[in-house]
This record gives sequence, structure tokens and C-alpha cells, in this order.
Amino acid sequence: AVIRLEDYRPTDYLIDRTELDIRLDRHATRVRATLHLRANAAGRPSAPLVLDGDELRLISLAIDGRPAAPDAYEASPERLVIHAPPASPFTLTIETEIDPTANTKLMGLYRSGSAYCTQCEAEGFRRITYFLDRPDVLSVFTTRIEADRDEAPVLLGNGNPVKAGDAGGGRHYAVWHDPFPKPCYLFAIVGGRLDKVADTFTTMSGRRVDIAVYVEPGKAGDAAYALDALKRSMAWDERVFGREYDLDVFNVVAVSDFNMGAMENKGLNIFNDKYVLASPETATDTDYANIEAIIAHEYFHNWTGNRITCRDWFQLCLKEGLTVFRDQEFSADQRSRAVKRIADVRVLRSQQFAEDSGPLAHPVRPRQYREINNFYTATVYEKGAEVIRMLRTLIGEEAFRRGMDLYFDRYDGTAATIEQFLSCFAEASGRDLGHFALWYEQAGTPTVTARGHYDPAAKVYRLTLTQATPPTPGQLEKSPQVIPISLGLVGASGADIPLSPPATEGHAPGVFVLDGPSATLTFTDVPEKPVPSLLRGFSAPVRLEIDLEEEDLLVLFRHDSDPFNQWQSAQTVATRAILRAVAGDKRAADHRMADALRHFLAMRAASDPAFAAQVLALPTEADIAREIGHDVDPDAVHHARRLVKAEIGAALGDELAELYGRLTTREPYTPDAAGAGRRALRNACLDLLAAGRPAEGEAFALHQFRDADNMTDRFAALSVLSHLPGTARETALAEFAERFRDNALVLDKWFSLQAMIPETGTLERVRGLMSHPAFSMGNPNRVRSLIGSFAMGNLTQFNRPDGAGYEFLADIVIALDARNPQVAARLLTAFRTWKMLEPGRRALAEKALRRVAETPGLSPDVADISGRSLS
Ligand code: ARG
Ligand code: ZN
Repeated sequence: AVIRLEDYRPTDYLIDRTELDIRLDRHATRVRATLHLRANAAGRPSAPLVLDGDELRLISLAIDGRPAAPDAYEASPERLVIHAPPASPFTLTIETEIDPTANTKLMGLYRSGSAYCTQCEAEGFRRITYFLDRPDVLSVFTTRIEADRDEAPVLLGNGNPVKAGDAGGGRHYAVWHDPFPKPCYLFAIVGGRLDKVADTFTTMSGRRVDIAVYVEPGKAGDAAYALDALKRSMAWDERVFGREYDLDVFNVVAVSDFNMGAMENKGLNIFNDKYVLASPETATDTDYANIEAIIAHEYFHNWTGNRITCRDWFQLCLKEGLTVFRDQEFSADQRSRAVKRIADVRVLRSQQFAEDSGPLAHPVRPRQYREINNFYTATVYEKGAEVIRMLRTLIGEEAFRRGMDLYFDRYDGTAATIEQFLSCFAEASGRDLGHFALWYEQAGTPTVTARGHYDPAAKVYRLTLTQATPPTPGQLEKSPQVIPISLGLVGASGADIPLSPPATEGHAPGVFVLDGPSATLTFTDVPEKPVPSLLRGFSAPVRLEIDLEEEDLLVLFRHDSDPFNQWQSAQTVATRAILRAVAGDKRAADHRMADALRHFLAMRAASDPAFAAQVLALPTEADIAREIGHDVDPDAVHHARRLVKAEIGAALGDELAELYGRLTTREPYTPDAAGAGRRALRNACLDLLAAGRPAEGEAFALHQFRDADNMTDRFAALSVLSHLPGTARETALAEFAERFRDNALVLDKWFSLQAMIPETGTLERVRGLMSHPAFSMGNPNRVRSLIGSFAMGNLTQFNRPDGAGYEFLADIVIALDARNPQVAARLLTAFRTWKMLEPGRRALAEKALRRVAETPGLSPDVADISGRSLS
């Protein structure tokens, strides 16, 4: 069934309070729910009460404490209907029995390892008990959890602990009370044998909060970084947004079987352990950065998501886009802001632009869905965050902060909409944001085309900007968007020429707003022909087309005061070189590019290694494929990129080897930004060197692989080796597997690396690894690292010209769908760019997709993705 935004109406009943008594048992967990209901004044009077369920078994039902007559209700696994509920407030006592061990969908109450845990967003609570499972029904929850004391000595719930004790027969219980009304998707419990690291945090008003991170026994040592990141997040949200924590305790639990990254359950965040556990020997710098960002993200949801939640699931970006924006700003403050921006834009382009240009494109706020779990997408999250960022650019930082304060003030305790959110910023800034709101409605990535003309006699520079958005499914006609374009004019000396006018009226210096199909900006008193630097800091999620000469791009690369555009111009030069190589030009990377990089490394490698590492990383194959846009031959893209990389690596060989040596240190590993930056540059040098001088690169890599005292360096070396066929690679892979055979998260890296080898033998290798003892189709991390990396991270092998990659993925998706539809559907999105392939592959991809779509008994998740992909 299709759910539509315009069909929203409030519920007929409200649930003011919910009391749960959950008696944990591996196969027969009993849940007794007492719901305190009353009619909703905004609903229909005396309507039947329809509660949601999913695979539930009703044991007993009482209305106001008396057993319900059999003809008073109708129960099925999916629904509980009370035909004629009492007119005055009443209680329902519902007893259900569920089997957490049989729950392979990992939604609702399930087992991960030996622990019990829950995942309720978006619609998992209905797998625990019958309820009004929608985000606009806010209830105060009290939860009693009972379990075998040996099996589950730790019992955690939402809110504050109120009572605990013995329950007889080797069992014990704990009662948790959450004073903040919340929708049931934020409900959680955990029971198990867990270790913890704990601390306290004192909030800005002086309240003491007990904070802890729980992990599987023996892993507490690897949770210290997460706990530290949590403390920094709590302090940052007070300092930057004035947001204080509101309960006596805050718990984080890491589990190994988890469909997504993590979940912001009130006071009890549950995490995929990949985003909690870290030690220098097992986690890379990227892992540390992800842990920091996701711990912050889930914590920040306490205000943006929990205190203010969403009226309906169409408003998902209200909490997700905003919270991603907040976690991006947090990371930018903890590390290098410029490098963080580049990393975020890389993710946006590789994930969101890819989604936005294919059959799965949808607006930041979709208008309809079949399966809401398929809308936890890069568009809702990443583009959603870009929309917030543009809003801040347009109204300025101060009005933005006033708008946020107003939003927290006015909508605390409610389930809000995008319109209500935007109204706060309109009020705080005195601006009409009606046109800006189109960013939430219109799918597709706008292209902004810029054409500049300099008139030396008049000293006038004219810049004509034009925008166009391609059609997307269901939206054939597009309107112009409000696009903030941060810009500067760079003179021959490299300095910015003062802008006259300085900005579009009412905006910060350097911010020009394109809000129609096209506009011409006229700058006066321009003493020389400038090089325009447009979209500084990536001020809008658009594609920019500008006809700059190679020389002009190199001016920006050397001199632009905006680091994002420095990086971007280097990427553009490299992209053009690779595109020339795709077109058959054998010497695609010209010497000017190598010279510019050489100069850049001499100037910046020492002072800004993290940034230099970003500059040395060439655009990915997927970036190039997107740039080509249609009839893509992945093999041609791969060979072209390889050629250019080898040319640059060869041209800079001496410098790279020398810099590599200079960045080598004996200092012990610390995960901070400075150390991470140095390692990133050193490993970027190694990677490029190995492309240009394979023998020397392999020797360096082998040595680094054996010698490293940390996972960042060891894995970077293995990654370089993985692209050099031969026995050295196979030996190193075997050594790595042996060394980390007991660490599933590290073996995930090993699976993933092998799945991404760009060679024809890889599909067979992946098939073989599926029978490795550490692999399991039941664990989402394993599936994503082996199958997901192959399908999303190996352009040439997933897109094998014989179609075997497609057929392989189709088989996996069909098999996995019966067990875990959410993960199966996510894997299937690897086909999201199939329409841009050359005709041969396109036909084979379509055939595989059709086979999936025509499989009987598909889940709504996979049926939705396969159906839309083919549309
Ligand atoms: N709200 C979580 C987060 O972004 C994501 C949970 C999504 N889970 C799901 N099954 N759809 O932090
Ligand atoms: Zn989130």
C-alpha cells in the first residue's frame, strides 16, 4: 500500500501513559502492556481503535481491567481492533508472546550474540506489542524488565532507573521510568551480560549525569574513545546550541547484529559495535572519526528528534538532516573544518548525487512511500543536512541560531513538521522562506552553469549564472531553486579582488543568490581579468559547470583563499585528465598538473598534511562515471584512471618517496587529528607511488604492512598490496586473517578489501569467502563488508560485461530477503545507477533486476526497491 503525505490525519485516540512488563525469555518472551487511552479531540468521535501489530500473538486482552469479550475485538498478527472503545479514558491490558531468537529481521526485540536488544525505528515497536505505532503518538513509558539473573545481569531501559530487585527462581527485574513523552519508535530495552566503561558528566546547570558505554564482556577497553567522544558531544551541544541533557543517566550499548549505524532511543542509544569499539591495533583513523561523528549524531538527537520529534515519517529529514548538520559541525570543530567539508562533500556526491540521478531519486521530504525503511537515504540525511547549511548561509549565523532557539522553545514536547521548523527561521530572520522550501519538495541535482566575461576598458566583470534541474521519477517539470553561491574573484597575484557589489543585498559578503532560471552579476572596478572561484565551501548541493582553462584552474589550486575550491580545482584538473584518457588520449595527465602538485606538496605537505592527502586522492571511478553520465563503460573508466594515476605517480616518484620517508615516525599511535593527518598523507604518497613505481611501492607497502603498530597503517599497506597481483598480496592477506582471526570487525575490513579487487577473479573470490568460517549471512556487517563492498565498491567487477556480478547480487538479495528484508533491500540499491551504463550492461542489469522483481513472496522492502529501480 502507498502511504501519502496529503492523507495525514491525527489519530482517533491518544496513549498518555504506557506501562510495560517484559519477561525476557529466549523463545517465549511475555510482554504485558497497559495502555492508558483517551479519545483525541482532533480525531473522529467513537471510532473503533485500531492498533498496529507485526507477527504478534495475542495471549490475553482486558479493557479497564476486565477480560475483553470475544466479540469486542478482533486480533490478527498485524492488527488489534477494539470495535467500540469506552467513551471516557480507559485502559487496555494486552499480553503478547514473542520469540526474540527467531527474529532475524532485527526489528523489534531480538537477540544479538547472547544479549537481548531492540530496534524500533521506524516501525519495530509493533513487533513487541500492539500500539499506535506512529511518531505523533507521544506517551510516558514505565518499563519493568525481568530476566534470568545469570543470562542477563544487566537490564537497561529508557529514562531513569527507579527500582531493581529479585524476582525469585533465579530471576531479577529492573524498572525504568522515562518522564519525557515519546513516540514508541524511541523505546528500547537491553538485557545481557555486558561490561561497561562509566563516567559522569556535569551539565551547564550543574546536574550530574551518569554516563556509560556497555559492550560485550572483555571489550570494555575498546569503548574508551566512544565514552570520551560522548563527553565532548555533551559539552559541545551546550556551548554551540545551548542544549543541556535532561535525564540522570545516559547509556550507550554496542551490539554486533544491527541493521543500521546506531539508534537514538531516549537515554539508551543502541549502536552497531563497529561505531563504538576502537583500539589502535584494530581501528583505523577513519573508524575513530566515524565513532566520534555517530556518537555525537545519536546524542544530538536527544533534542533534534526526541524532545522535538516528527509528526509523520514524511518529516524524517526534520530530525535526520538537522542532526547530520549538527554532527558535521561538531566534527568540524573537533578536527580540521576544511578537511571535514571535503570529506562530507565526497560522501554527498558519491551517495546522494548517485541516488538523485537515477530511478530511486526522491525529494528530501518524500510525498509517498511503500516502505519507510527504504527512505533512510543519502537524500534525506546528507542532502537534508545541505539544506540546513544553505539556510544558515542565506539568513546568516546569528539569525540561524535565533531560529534554532525559537524552534526548541516553541516545539519542545511536540511532533513537528518542516513547515513549523522553517517558520522559526522566517520569524527570526524576517525573511520569506517560501521559495527556499522547494529544496524539500523537488528531487534532482540542479546544474548551475557559469559564463564569465571581462571588459578591460570598462573594468567590468559579468558573470552569467543559469540553473536547470533534470527530470526525476514523478517530477518531470522543475522550477528554479534558491541557490546561495559563495564566490570570489581571484586576481593574477592570487589575492581576492574586492567585490563591488559585495553580495546579493541582505546577504553576507561574497554570498550571491540565484533564485531564477538565470541571472547576470555585474562587478565593477575589476582592475584585471579575474578567475572566478564559485561555490566556495560547496555552498549548495549542485553540479557546477564552468568553462575555465586548465591555467585558470591551476591558479585556483595554488591561490584560492577557499580551501574547498583549492581542492576542487585539483579534482577538476584530474577529472579532465581521466576523461581525456577515457577518450583515448595516451598521455592524458600533462606536466602542468604534476608540476602544480609538486609545488603544492613543497608548500603545504608539512603544514597541512590532512588537506594534502585529500588533494592527492584522485576522483573515484564512480565520480568519473557520474561525470560521463550515460553509456558508461566501467572498464574504460578504470583503465583511464589507472593510467592517469600511474603517470602522476611516476612523475612525482622522487617527491613521493622522499615525503613518505619524512612522514615516517616512531612515535606511538594517537587517534587525534594531527596524527591522523600525517598518516593520511603518508598513505596517500604510498598509494600514488605504488601506481607509478609498482616494484618500489610494493616493497614499501610490504614493509609497512609488517612493521605497523596501528591498523591505519597496516590496512593502508594491505590495501595498496591488494591492487598488486601476485604472491606478496596473497601472503599478506593470509597473515592479516591469521593475526585478526578472532576479531570480526577487523575481518570485515579484510572481506571488504578483497571484494573490491578490480580483477576478473574477484567474483570467484567473493563466492569462496562466503564459506569462510567468519562469514555469516545473518550478520549485517559481514554481509555489507563482503557483498556490499563488491556491489557498491567494485565498479568493474560488479558490472562485469557478462552480467555475472548482477546475477550474483540478485541471488543474494532473493535469498537474504527471507531473513532480513531491510539489509536485502539496501544491497539491491547497488543497481541505482544501472541506467547510465552502456547498452550491453544495461540490458543485463535490467534482466537481473527483473528476476528479483518477479520473485514471488518478496518483502515490501525489496519489492519497493526493485519496482522503483525498473520504473
Ligand atoms: N534514527 C537512526 C539514526 O539515524 C537510524 C535508524 C534507522 N533504522 C531503520 N531501521 N530504519 O540515527
Ligand atoms: Zn539520525
